[in-house]
Amino acid sequence: MSVTIGTPLTATATRVMLLGSGELGKEVAIELQRLGVEVVAVDRYADAPAQQVAHRAHVIDMLDPAALRRLIEEERPDIVVPEIEAISTPTLLELEAEGGPRVVPTARAARLTMDREGIRRLAAEELGLKTSPYRFEDSFDGFAAAVAQIGLPCVVKPVMSSSGRGQSVLRSPRDVRPAWEYAQAGGRGSLSAPGQAARVIVEGFVDFAYEVTMLTVRHVGGVTICDPVGHVQVDGDYRESFQPQPMSPTALERSRAVAATVTEALGGWGLFGVELFIMDDDAVVFSEVSPRPHDTGLVTLASQDLSEFALHARALLGLPIPAVAQLGPSASCAVVAEGAGVPVFGQVDRALAEPTVQLRLFGKPAVRGHRRVAVAVARGADLAEARARARRAAAALTVTLA
Ligand SMILES: Nc1ncnc2c1ncn2[C@@H]1O[C@H](COP(=O)(O)OP(=O)(O)OP(=O)(O)O)[C@@H](O)[C@H]1O
Ligand SMILES: [Mg+2]
Repeated sequence: MSVTIGTPLTATATRVMLLGSGELGKEVAIELQRLGVEVVAVDRYADAPAQQVAHRAHVIDMLDPAALRRLIEEERPDIVVPEIEAISTPTLLELEAEGGPRVVPTARAARLTMDREGIRRLAAEELGLKTSPYRFEDSFDGFAAAVAQIGLPCVVKPVMSSSGRGQSVLRSPRDVRPAWEYAQAGGRGSLSAPGQAARVIVEGFVDFAYEVTMLTVRHVGGVTICDPVGHVQVDGDYRESFQPQPMSPTALERSRAVAATVTEALGGWGLFGVELFIMDDDAVVFSEVSPRPHDTGLVTLASQDLSEFALHARALLGLPIPAVAQLGPSASCAVVAEGAGVPVFGQVDRALAEPTVQLRLFGKPAVRGHRRVAVAVARGADLAEARARARRAAAALTVTLA
């Protein structure tokens, strides 16, 4: 079978529609552009980062089944690439069944990972992977009972949320009410009826030694697993990542096995970010998986000849990935803005003064609250040097909100 790519904006075009157009989608769009793919970028707000580098952009509510179906029928993409969870995935399943566009990695994988419940039940109950103890609840009383059963400390998260929104750790019985309210305020739009409480997961707190993301690519030639990415999270949001995370041979082997198992169960072609907690005794606890590039994988912009975004683009087009070259110890450091307004970056020259440093300024049109607006990546002789360089670059950059 040979892969053909036409010319964008002609009848021959190979057309890819991104559902979600954030900073990770922007890098995917750029990689697709490099391969001559026609890119259509969709989000719920205008001028989202990936829309700025796409051939066309559309603003719709992607959780609205009718709006999503209408747009896909109008654009007739060859391939649909979900970039976020909050999409009407039942619509993608229907369209795929009707012989519509191929969904990356598959419509079923998008459905299963749309909220925390599908993927957790698959991993723990069907695949038998070790996870934290958990319960799903959608009322305050059920939640309080789940906390009592699982015990303190525990973690609560809305089933539909990302980047730590609505997530908190409960350490004392006094935390039960505020944690519930915080989760209710932080949950994304869901498929549940309006007025209904947002469903939450209560998880036992895992006292891990460190955590890793296993970037795993399923492609036409098989499965490629990148070197482990270590990361540091603050309030459920990633701040720094680095590659390769040092691991014992046992922990690495187990992590690769879990990554292979869960991505095999999801199937299709594309890159996955498999999030794992590693215990002191090298036990591996599965946390979650994204069937798409992962924020902690931004480090691969410095650390690999093919970044996670280039790997996703190649895999989803059915192109081969004979090998991934790891370029040496590397790190990323996120730049977070606080407040409201249009980001303006200062001291960009200072941030780029050190060797190997690169920046990505996302171009988010306006931010509100606590938002990631840029990232610095760097290599070094060792992880300590790479991390110090990325941190210095991120710290040198100033962000004011106009
Ligand atoms: N059960 C747990 N025990 C201990 N720490 C946890 C647990 N669950 C989550 N965390 C911490 O919170 C971080 C974010 O959790 P999780 O990945 O589930 O949230 P998220 O909102 O999906 O974040 P993202 O979208 O950035 O991946 C984890 O990487 C980990 O550091
Ligand atoms: Mg996560």
